[in-house]
Amino acid sequence: MADPFDIVIFGGCGDLALRKLVPALYRAFREEKFPSGSRVFAACHNPGDAADYLAKVAPALQEHLAADEFCPEAWDQFKELLFPLVLDVSVADEQWQSLSALLNSEPEKVRVFYLAIPPTIFGVCCQHLAQVDLVTANSRVVVEKPLGYDAVSADTINTEIARVFDESCIYRIDHYLGKETVQNLFALRFTNLIFEQLWDAKSIDHVQISISETVGLEGRAGFYNEAGALRDMVQNHLLQLLCLVAMESPNKVNFKSIRAEKLKVLEALRPMSGEDVNKHTVRGQYVPGSYSGELVPGYIEELGSPDSTTETFVALRVYIDNWRWARTPFYLRTGKRMKKRCAEIVIQFKDVSHRVYDDSAGPLAPNRLIIRLQPDEFIQLTLMSKNLERLDMQLQPATLNLNFSDTYSHFRSDAYKRLILDAATANQSLFIRRDEVEQAWAWIDPIIEAWHNSKSTPHLYRAGTWGPDESDELLKEDGRHWFNSGEGLEQE
Ligand code: BG6
Repeated sequence: MADPFDIVIFGGCGDLALRKLVPALYRAFREEKFPSGSRVFAACHNPGDAADYLAKVAPALQEHLAADEFCPEAWDQFKELLFPLVLDVSVADEQWQSLSALLNSEPEKVRVFYLAIPPTIFGVCCQHLAQVDLVTANSRVVVEKPLGYDAVSADTINTEIARVFDESCIYRIDHYLGKETVQNLFALRFTNLIFEQLWDAKSIDHVQISISETVGLEGRAGFYNEAGALRDMVQNHLLQLLCLVAMESPNKVNFKSIRAEKLKVLEALRPMSGEDVNKHTVRGQYVPGSYSGELVPGYIEELGSPDSTTETFVALRVYIDNWRWARTPFYLRTGKRMKKRCAEIVIQFKDVSHRVYDDSAGPLAPNRLIIRLQPDEFIQLTLMSKNLERLDMQLQPATLNLNFSDTYSHFRSDAYKRLILDAATANQSLFIRRDEVEQAWAWIDPIIEAWHNSKSTPHLYRAGTWGPDESDELLKEDGRHWFNSGEGLEQE
């Protein structure tokens, strides 16, 4: 259990705080992982929000937690630890002194400053913290994405934060790294000899990493239309997942080794620019379609702006130029308003080197490892086996299933809970180091530039599908196809 800590959420009444952060803290509290003596300060921009804070949080918890998680008695206790306050992050007024007085009554206590505010005001927020003596040796700052719009803006943001906080106190969050199955990927890779021996270009045909979403803009039109899927999802979540699949074994599972190994993967990504970008990437934008029998609007209609060429879908063929992965494609894909919500990593192994059965035994499917992160969490390995009901030798794929949703039926995976508690205990393993952010942008920027220069527009796809046809073509060119969640085996 962590020592007692104070957490200050800037943007305390914002969407992220109400949807994710406060529910995560409440969960920690109910699971007795929230150390006694800890406090939550919610810094709200509007005085009205601060006055009504508890009345806003209770329904938010009910909405964003599972039905059996909200308990009125626990809420009565938890709300005693919640302290709303009014504070305009950009203005150096007496409200900062009040915050300082509240926190500095316990000067040695661990402090977590969570910046759930636009990155344009990260710098000024950090400066104000320093000016009112709130930055101590036990202070940590947690920063949310987007960390910039490109390499230059990311550098500006990182430099501003670094004026006040040492790198060892900066926690750049990527909530995908807090998902439990992502950490299980680590356990799987680095504690099982069978995978250690097979985890490379000699045995693996290719890797697919897909994050498909069914939601559209969700009230974030302004941000999303500027960002697009490449910046919003690939620069961070997908590249981080790729790093975890592709990295070398760290010497120890600690923040130094893990981050050093991830950086090497990012450095080994084969750069793309100009014609390569046309060849290896597909952009899409959704048009009206249907989801679960309901008609849903297209991106342009949702946005209310007919000229947008922002991509809501992207698929990429990526190579990692190092000894382990030479010539092994990694296919990445993400999109809004797709057919199913799913985040999945598929490791497709190669065919066996020699077929010992004659054709009458049926086709052989190569082994496949599926690591599902959401909506449910499991790891599946498909193997070839004999059909027991037949006298003659008929081969068929069978699945070994590690289903965590069944094994841990009462456990609720909550990436934010784990990451906030990690920050409180000064564990940076699942947070991104500055050079990782820089390297990821260095790889992404030329792709955006090439799209811009090509003057082409995204391919259209109907909402409720797996993306544009061109995304399927990308894999067909290589004699492969996407494993769409739940449809993998049917496609064989
Ligand atoms: C965020 C993106 O980082 O991740 C959103 O900004 C996206 O656009 C979200 O919807 C997806 O997270 P999750 O955990 O719901 O898959």
